Amino acid sequence: MVIGTGYVGLVQGACLASQGHQVTCVDIDEAKVQSLRAAKVPFFEEGLEALVGEGIASGNLQFALGAEEGFSQLTPEVIFLAVGTPTGADGSADLLIFESAVKSLIPHLAPDMVLVEKSTVPAGTGKKVKAWLGRNDIAVASNPEFLREGTAVSDFLQPDRIVIGTDDDATAETLKNVYAWSDAPILAMNRESAELAKYAANTMLAARLSLMNEIANIADLIGANISEIETAVGADPRIGSKFLRTGAGFGGSCFPKDVLALEQTGRELGYDSRLIRPIIEVNTRQAEVFVDKVRAAYGDLTGVKLAVWGLAFNAKTDDTRESPAMRIIGLLLDAGAVISVHDPAAMDEARKGLGDGVVYGKDQWEILDGAQGLLVLTEWDQFLQADFGRVMSTLEQPLVFDGKHALPAEALRGLGLKVIGIGI
Ligand code: UDX
Repeated sequence: MVIGTGYVGLVQGACLASQGHQVTCVDIDEAKVQSLRAAKVPFFEEGLEALVGEGIASGNLQFALGAEEGFSQLTPEVIFLAVGTPTGADGSADLLIFESAVKSLIPHLAPDMVLVEKSTVPAGTGKKVKAWLGRNDIAVASNPEFLREGTAVSDFLQPDRIVIGTDDDATAETLKNVYAWSDAPILAMNRESAELAKYAANTMLAARLSLMNEIANIADLIGANISEIETAVGADPRIGSKFLRTGAGFGGSCFPKDVLALEQTGRELGYDSRLIRPIIEVNTRQAEVFVDKVRAAYGDLTGVKLAVWGLAFNAKTDDTRESPAMRIIGLLLDAGAVISVHDPAAMDEARKGLGDGVVYGKDQWEILDGAQGLLVLTEWDQFLQADFGRVMSTLEQPLVFDGKHALPAEALRGLGLKVIGIGI
């Protein structure tokens, strides 16, 4: 059973069903459950809707409104908790939704069921779960997710590693069986280590990006090229070449939230971290650095018409949470620019944040008419591989701002476009 049908829970449920498990996904949102029963996924994640359809057709995947209905469909051996843990006022993970999900299960739990933290929850939450349950015959384990939005289905089905956090051998065996279809290494550890490992991985990745972005800012001042520096740094096997791409900052529902929550966990334990918060501060400033570049190209942005390709924080998702694109558009609007936008999947999500402040283009080309520059802020293939000859002939000024450092800059320059980014 999986509690919560968001980006994490639904991937978990649909992927496990595809591997032959009997899965019921429970949610308390009636509209969502109805939509899922009709095999319609209410958000976009590449490959997920097809997998949900297959799961329903095979009879392995069912949906239930609330825990009671869920337990009437299935007596689970394992229950994955995959509800939201948003950032609270002090930066910590807000566990209210998580706690209420745990408590909704209490009347239905039977001895030997295993309750698994799949949501990202601070180290030590497992102990709280035990206290909420008020009984000792239900095992509580941690099994963090390492899914990138946009590639979550393939990340799940071909994992780098599977982390299982429990002190109890029988519980570890039960969870290993859930993943028996995978040949990924199983890393068994105690629950606190598993809980903390998730934060450690995300904070490490976010730190890498912020550090590289700072180096890109310095590269700009000295006339160095960050792409070349990235190649030189990544060639050191101790560092590795992945996840070094700079730009206008990182986004998404995980990095900013998890980095702040790790700092807060330390603080609650009496530890004052010096390194963690600047990861977020650098990232927030990076959007401003990017907007300064745009401003510098025009002098004054009042009335300047700009087209934006990309609103989601990653390609192949519709998620705009903490998306640099949304932050950049807000700053450009404040500076008086006139913005038109297009994203293949995230227009509805973006509208919730941007309202009527921008023009929404039906396709990526119509917003170029009359635009004095183009900003590429999400690395969708249809943007990176666009016909830039057409971009050149449509834009009023040949300026392309690359917020992801993902465009073939040389080729664009060959067409007469000026490519502007940070550190390039
Ligand atoms: C992240 C982790 O990667 C995943 O393992 C975890 O469990 C959930 O959080 P997610 O936030 O969905 O996944 O996406 P990810 O692909 O990691 O990208 C996060 C942000 O970093 C995006 O804005 C992306 O554009 C940015 N990024 C990524 C860079 O700026 N440079 C890079 O080299 C890679």
